[in-house]
Amino acid sequence: MERGKFIVLEGIDGSGKSTHAKLLCEALRERGIPCEHTFEPTDRPVGALLRRYLKGELKTCERTIAGLFLSDRLDHITHPEGLLAKLNAGISIVCDRYYFSSIAYNCISESIEWVRNLNMAARELLAPDLVIFLNIPAEIMEKRLERRDYKEIYENLDNQRKVRARYFEAFKAVDDPVAVIDCCREKIDVAKDVLHTALKLYK
Ligand code: TYD
Repeated sequence: MERGKFIVLEGIDGSGKSTHAKLLCEALRERGIPCEHTFEPTDRPVGALLRRYLKGELKTCERTIAGLFLSDRLDHITHPEGLLAKLNAGISIVCDRYYFSSIAYNCISESIEWVRNLNMAARELLAPDLVIFLNIPAEIMEKRLERRDYKEIYENLDNQRKVRARYFEAFKAVDDPVAVIDCCREKIDVAKDVLHTALKLYK
């Protein structure tokens, strides 16, 4: 059986990752490709701890947080119904955030190297077949996020600008195949581009 493809969606908060991850997953299924949508932080125990941190309920140091995101990721990869099990069963995965999020958000004192190196433990187990970066300026993102009822700790303009810049550094620091897609357009046009890019994996 052919192994499923591992497709990762990345972007700053408000870039529409979860919407496009779901749309892509549905579109692949319609084409007869078995596919599941998943996300990080996960809904498993370490992911639950991380969501408490993101709401500001848990305070700890940056290294601990980066370590927890890595633990959540390793569990996501290896648990009995996790990423490797699904991919080996021929199911493709569309994953909303993966280690590029850690490099972009959890860098230690502005240095991405420590987090990048830490996350090589995940990359050794599972590297993406394709990373789709939903590209949007932080200012446009902020307008979209104003509609949400609470802001997680990372959501402010200055930080989102830094995060976006670090994503591009991360793409240089880790040699995975990345497609950058302009998201300042109508959702339907972005979705078409995302699907077109992903389908190249199945030729
Ligand atoms: P996400 O669930 O995508 O948030 P939302 O659905 O509200 O857009 O991600 C939650 C936050 O977690 C996001 O601000 C980025 C952060 N994050 C990290 O800091 N490091 C990581 O490794 C991951 C996966 C996410």
